[in-house]
Amino acid sequence: MLKIENLSYNIFEDEKDREILNDISLNFEKGKIYVITGPNGSGKSTLVKIVMGIKKQTSGKIFFNGKDISNLSINERANLGISYAFQQPVTFKGLKVRDLLDIASHKKNDFNTLCDYLAQVGLCAKEYINRPLDDKLSGGELKRIELALTLARKTPLNIFDEPEAGIDLWSFDNLTNIFKNLKNTTNIIVSHQTKILEIADYVILLKNGKVVKIGSYSEVKPFIENATCGKLRSQNGQD
Ligand SMILES: Nc1ncnc2c1ncn2[C@@H]1O[C@H](COP(=O)(O)OP(=O)(O)OP(=O)(O)O)[C@@H](O)[C@H]1O
Ligand SMILES: [Mg+2]
Repeated sequence: MLKIENLSYNIFEDEKDREILNDISLNFEKGKIYVITGPNGSGKSTLVKIVMGIKKQTSGKIFFNGKDISNLSINERANLGISYAFQQPVTFKGLKVRDLLDIASHKKNDFNTLCDYLAQVGLCAKEYINRPLDDKLSGGELKRIELALTLARKTPLNIFDEPEAGIDLWSFDNLTNIFKNLKNTTNIIVSHQTKILEIADYVILLKNGKVVKIGSYSEVKPFIENATCGKLRSQNGQD
């Protein structure tokens, strides 16, 4: 349903080109959970932002259900059915949680429906539906509301960049259940967390802007450990 072909992303820094993503080709099947992992700075957020159209690839193509979306805007991609939850959620001055849930689901929702979206992310609707989505909400609350917005959109392709960031550990099982319950949709989750890696149909390991390994978590796990050890060793000057 999503196909990435020979995708590269370069930036111009200190008067020279720096390669952030290097010739990435990936095929995402309908209804599967993909978890993209890898060391900090390996290019995970850059990759998913390019899929959403937030950043523009230097070269390569992206196809969604057979349609070339490489040059479409964020809005056009959203209208085709791609949803994106940011690593650092965005706030909207003046809009309440209930307004945003209505906008996300393209309809006016009754209290029970709103309650259901918020309950799935562990929030009590009574406390939250009339709150503005502004910087008075805590990081974890914002993150949960952003997840609820993605649930309300009911899009066929959902992208989550580090959904666990700021979410307390006791809510983790709820969080993984959300992804397990998103049946018949394709989910791409950027994550470092074992519990999320464990629910993946496929784990994609990125390192230095390249795909190092794709497979089940047990297949990719030894490579993840090596990627981390390698980074730690070189940080300690042992490489
Ligand atoms: N606009 C930019 N200007 C300069 N450097 C950038 C820019 N965008 C991304 N980078 C660099 O590209 C690399 C990849 O960044 P990216 O945010 O994709 O990493 P990540 O894998 O998501 O890391 P993390 O696990 O910390 O979220 C980093 O070294 C980052 O500093
Ligand atoms: Mg990131």
